[in-house]
Amino acid sequence: MVDDGGQWDPTRLERFGRRLRIAMVGGGLGSFIGEAHRIAFRVDGMWELVAGAFSRNPATSAATGRALLLDPERVYPDYRALIAAEASRPDRPDAVLVATLPDTHEEICSALLEAGFHVIAEKPLTSTVDQAERVVDAVGRTGRRLLLTHCDSGYPMVRQARDMVADGSLGRVTVVDTEFSNGSQTVPGAGGAWRVDATQVGEAGMLLDVGTHALHLVTYVTGVRIDTVSARLHRLDPRHTVFDNAFLDLGLAGGAVGRCWSTFQAAGSVHGLRISVVGELGSVHWVQTDPEVLWWRPANEPAQLLTRAGTGATAGAVEASRFAPGHPDGYGLAFANLYRDFGEALLAEALGEDPTPLLAGVPDQFDGLHTLEVVDAALRSAAAEGRSVTVRDPALRARR
Ligand SMILES: NC(=O)c1ccc[n+]([C@@H]2O[C@H](COP(=O)([O-])OP(=O)(O)OC[C@H]3O[C@@H](n4cnc5c(N)ncnc54)[C@H](O)[C@@H]3O)[C@@H](O)[C@H]2O)c1
Repeated sequence: MVDDGGQWDPTRLERFGRRLRIAMVGGGLGSFIGEAHRIAFRVDGMWELVAGAFSRNPATSAATGRALLLDPERVYPDYRALIAAEASRPDRPDAVLVATLPDTHEEICSALLEAGFHVIAEKPLTSTVDQAERVVDAVGRTGRRLLLTHCDSGYPMVRQARDMVADGSLGRVTVVDTEFSNGSQTVPGAGGAWRVDATQVGEAGMLLDVGTHALHLVTYVTGVRIDTVSARLHRLDPRHTVFDNAFLDLGLAGGAVGRCWSTFQAAGSVHGLRISVVGELGSVHWVQTDPEVLWWRPANEPAQLLTRAGTGATAGAVEASRFAPGHPDGYGLAFANLYRDFGEALLAEALGEDPTPLLAGVPDQFDGLHTLEVVDAALRSAAAEGRSVTVRDPALRARR
């Protein structure tokens, strides 16, 4: 029995007095990522889904609303109708999730921001640097906030790696090695054909879809930007009009070097995301399919398998852990951590508190812009036969 004395401070949600209201654009029945968001924002009881324009197909949008027991009047055939009706409601959503295809993100995110909603955007932020810059401008102009759902940054052991780099455990970081070796598009009849169709996602579609996850992990864990890129891009499957394989050599601010392999051609691979960060005093290694552990290999000592919320857990890892060690948290709760952190920040702001510390582990529009700048540099490098090129405006894009 736990004798806690019964003294509990009221939570922010309690002081705020109601759940945060969320609406969705995209993520309808049958979509890949919509249900992951619905699971994630339900976890802490902090968010309540109130409205949606869930699909390009109005019938699917309506069916999604019915399945979720939403008020039919708040289920819309498209995002413009959603904004027109929801913006003036007294019980309007606090934030709107955009989980549509990347080429629509700029238009939809910007319209939502201009209508006064906070935005939760699926990655990649947009399809191009120019579009991303316009979203960054819209966030700044409207004073709204944007969460970019690079869900891997919600894993406790990714936060542990980040903390260990920041607290100097690794010493000076010298090498970063990451990959997203995905095989989904090698499976006959695989869904998501838009992913390999350059007419829908541009020729950098694979880099935007999976490459940006790996690139974001590099900057998230090391805390520094990518300054230079040398790229070799390939079309290995003749049916694909995007580059479906990419080898990138990276130069990081502060002098570390890195490499990033991203591909849709890793036949047999299960998901395929991992990262290693090497410093002068040791290295850390994390694999998305075994997310509860982080290998820590200190120089001149035996390697250690750090476990989530176990001995040696950093504050960030403990904060992101939900269950006791040995009871796996997994993908859903990593995703939920982003919703919890962002939700706590919105509540703090509404209560007149400083939200900044709560947003420290949360990817935002600047992260989205930066990965697009790196993808842009990769295209320019590949067009110049792999010459090393500078990532656009690295000095001007300091985070916050
Ligand atoms: N964070 C992650 O781990 C992760 C994983 C998969 C996909 N994604 C991202 O999520 C986004 C969606 O990908 P997906 O795999 O779910 O795609 P999908 O094709 O499976 O589903 C897209 C959904 O959006 C709807 N839609 C498209 N355009 C719309 C519009 N203009 N208005 C309303 N609805 C619209 C479609 O009808 C469909 O319901 C992409 O940006 C993708 O990169 C992220």
